[in-house]
Amino acid sequence: MTTSQILIVGVAAVGVFAVLGAFVIAFKRGSDPSSDWRQDIDRATAKADRSELNEPVSVMAGAGAAELPIEGVVAESAPDPEVVEPAAVHAVEVLKVEELSPEEAGVNRRAFLTRALGATFGAFLALNGVAYLGFLWPRLSGGFGSAIDVGAIADLRNQIIQPDGSIIPAFVPEARAYIVPFANADISGSQFSEALVVGELTALWQRCVHLGCRVPWCASSQGFECPCHGSKYNSVGEYQAGPAPRNLDRFEVELQGDRMIVKTANIIQTPRAPVFTVEYPLGPSCISLSAAPEV
Ligand code: FES
Repeated sequence: MTTSQILIVGVAAVGVFAVLGAFVIAFKRGSDPSSDWRQDIDRATAKADRSELNEPVSVMAGAGAAELPIEGVVAESAPDPEVVEPAAVHAVEVLKVEELSPEEAGVNRRAFLTRALGATFGAFLALNGVAYLGFLWPRLSGGFGSAIDVGAIADLRNQIIQPDGSIIPAFVPEARAYIVPFANADISGSQFSEALVVGELTALWQRCVHLGCRVPWCASSQGFECPCHGSKYNSVGEYQAGPAPRNLDRFEVELQGDRMIVKTANIIQTPRAPVFTVEYPLGPSCISLSAAPEV
């Protein structure tokens, strides 16, 4: 798995966990009766309302009950004039207190939605922060976008230049670059500069400048030929045919000891070359003309 794939998976996982965590926290806080002062106030209000409906009930018995009608009072028995009871009033206050659940109080939904909205927004910001960090990560970790050591000059030249004189570019996935030969004597009069050539090697971005396909090497023609729409470039990336608007893009390079460093943050674009540095094609093309519309 490449670094970028790991980053994508990591960002997605962090995002999912952030959103889930936010909702869990919001739900738990929203369902905690002691966590919301507004919920307490609303509950007290609801309780008071219920209390009004369940007014304290007084039960009176004995003489004088009829003379003392009290709303909400229920006589246990009719006063008997034959029975002499002490003139006493027994008042029993029955206060019915019913604990309301948060759902019954009708306040949790609002509190929950408020917190869920806030938590989601927070998770969104956190996710964007992580994604931004992931975007910068290659530059921080030495991947594409940084200066990349692609190997020793001698080793690269031995790998690239074949015994019969043909070439097979060295592809460096980390730099997304092809390393190809470029003679120092050809710098003058070309679109290349000293900043683009080191140890008679140069670095080309793998990306087709038409629509971005990776351009493969064609060993038979000794050039780069894009299978997507047929753009063709010679071995140093100079435009030859197809819809591509310019040469393959190049990277600045430098020499550190005997090693070639490709600065993938410094991408150099050049227009179609008026004169070509190397000859192309040197053999059959790898893509058919029907698949390669000429412009
Ligand atoms: S992407 Fe290469 S020719 Fe279109």
